[in-house]
Amino acid sequence: MNIRLENKFSQTSVNIERIHKPTREEFKNKTLSYRKPVIITGKIPDWKAFGLWSIDYLNTVIGNKEVDVNVSKNKMFTVDPETEVILPSKKIQFTEFTDWIIQEKKADQYYYLQQSPIQTSFPELFPDIEIPDYMNQNLFMITNLWIGTGGNITPLHWDAAQNLLSQVRGRKRILLFEPKQISFLYPFSVHSQTPHISHLNIDKLDIEKFPKFQKAKYTECILEPGEMLFIPAFWWHQVYSLDQLNIAVNFWWKANLKDYFTAPARRFLLKKPNLFWVMVLQKPNLFWKIIEDFAGLISYKKRV
Ligand code: FUM
Ligand code: FE
Repeated sequence: MNIRLENKFSQTSVNIERIHKPTREEFKNKTLSYRKPVIITGKIPDWKAFGLWSIDYLNTVIGNKEVDVNVSKNKMFTVDPETEVILPSKKIQFTEFTDWIIQEKKADQYYYLQQSPIQTSFPELFPDIEIPDYMNQNLFMITNLWIGTGGNITPLHWDAAQNLLSQVRGRKRILLFEPKQISFLYPFSVHSQTPHISHLNIDKLDIEKFPKFQKAKYTECILEPGEMLFIPAFWWHQVYSLDQLNIAVNFWWKANLKDYFTAPARRFLLKKPNLFWVMVLQKPNLFWKIIEDFAGLISYKKRV
């Protein structure tokens, strides 16, 4: 059954505000200390990438290098939400991939270059972007490149990292569900390979199998080229690529300790407590961060 999301589910009161070139302090205030999504305008247009990144430019700079693209039969990428099968990837020459994007033909398989670390996989593009200064640099994790075409869908999931999804070309439609909506979102088992992904195929919903989803509340936005969406850690998101050429960069940095008290993180860590200690012991800065965060958490609890 194909249903239109807008008609079936109610939006939350979380309103995604657009803020123009905020300072780090303004960003922290508007996101309620990295807990609420916002859209940042005005930063990406200052990047070299914004003027440069056309198919011709990318073909010239990247050329015939082999790249790893994810492959899907139905444009739903990385995992089949109904069967939990992790989809295959394929090595392909970059120019063959861009030729495929330009042709935009109906095919029996579709490609998406997803979450590819720029510094290691595309160092030639790194000088064209600017790492935003909204995070403490010692919390910074990775910068990823995403290239695809309209119709590609990244299914409903959360990430254990703060995320600044930055649109360089084309638009994306993004659905966002607060972490506590987990009770309506049917995640895969914590013992599976993909405990951060939902079973739901939202656009082809099986209401009998997933009745609680009717109670889910979401918020949505269209991210325009030149805009960045801040997705707080552990917020559920489903991402639809729009337009023929879609290029984005996302920046990940470490979640705050208080984020590990949100429902998806608690569910995960309670069942796998050893992972918590792995996180703490492997990250030298994390010990002090935890102390800082505990202080922040206590003052946050006092405020609410
Ligand atoms: O398809 C996407 O752009 C997904 C982005 C994300 O999950 O951060
Ligand atoms: Fe994500």
